[in-house]
Amino acid sequence: MAMEISSVSYMKALPLVLILLLTITQVKCSDPDPLQDFCVADTNSTSFLNGFPCINPSTVNASQFKTPALGVPGNTSANPFGFNVTLTTVQNLPGLNTQGLALARTDFAKGGLVPPHIHPRASEIAFVVKGVVLVGFVDTSNKLFTQNLKAGDVFVFPRAQLHFLLNLGNSTAITISGLNSQSPGAQIVPLAAFGSNPEIPPAVLEKAFQISSEEVKKIRKNLIGG
Ligand SMILES: *[C@@H]1O[C@H](CO)[C@@H](O)[C@H](O)[C@H]1NC(C)=O
Ligand SMILES: *[C@@H]1O[C@H](CO)[C@@H](O)[C@H](O)[C@H]1NC(C)=O
Ligand SMILES: *[C@@H]1O[C@H](CO)[C@@H](O)[C@H](O)[C@H]1NC(C)=O
Ligand SMILES: *[C@@H]1O[C@H](CO)[C@@H](O)[C@H](O)[C@H]1NC(C)=O
Ligand SMILES: *[C@@H]1O[C@H](CO)[C@@H](O)[C@H](O)[C@H]1NC(C)=O
Repeated sequence: MAMEISSVSYMKALPLVLILLLTITQVKCSDPDPLQDFCVADTNSTSFLNGFPCINPSTVNASQFKTPALGVPGNTSANPFGFNVTLTTVQNLPGLNTQGLALARTDFAKGGLVPPHIHPRASEIAFVVKGVVLVGFVDTSNKLFTQNLKAGDVFVFPRAQLHFLLNLGNSTAITISGLNSQSPGAQIVPLAAFGSNPEIPPAVLEKAFQISSEEVKKIRKNLIGG
């Protein structure tokens, strides 16, 4: 009797299990799993694939798993926002290839802002090394989640959601972020909207932001000088 019941519930549960398996496959959204111990990037390769091909494993040495790239502050005067992100990439850290992660150092000038932006391929976890940083993200129902962070605090930005970081302190600030993709990508909203090449037709921006053509020109000039 018990046997009968369990096999009946098993049959009933089978479609559910299949749906669950399909769902898991669909929501799995980090980088693909590595198939080898390592795949140190051959950054000279001319093949186009998802990531980079590996160099011959027998020629790999430990230096390819190290980079000093994040040891130097980025230049926060090189853009109008007062921030600079230095990211580990397969170029400066070939051993990163296929590992599904990256580390970013963000430097902020006093008052510096990382403008609202999106990482299409990664969630982000940020640690404040120095300073006072206002952070926030907006979910798909346009609800804002914001916090004031100080040195030692950690904040998570969910994958692909609009987020920003603003230095509220009286001095420079530094954050270090882990991202669960070797190529997180970043789309900075003001630059994507007003600094694209070629330009988004002004009529689109005028309607989308409910502004005049003069205001479109002014924002473009302020952002990219053009
Ligand atoms: C890429 O090519 C340059 C120039 O030929 C060479 O010096 C370098 O070692 C190559 N890098 C890799 C990862 O093969
Ligand atoms: C390890 O590889 C790097 C990059 O190809 C090279 O510059 C370095 O000389 C190598 N070190 C040793 C000990 O082979
Ligand atoms: C970040 O700083 C580097 C030099 O430190 C500079 O080459 C780069 O253009 C800067 N990036 C931005 C977005 O300002
Ligand atoms: C930072 O960028 C600004 C603007 O491009 C430039 O004038 C300045 O020399 C740069 N500073 C450093 C340390 O590279
Ligand atoms: C910045 O300086 C002002 C004036 O000295 C002080 O009131 C404020 O608390 C400081 N803010 C931070 C975040 O340290």
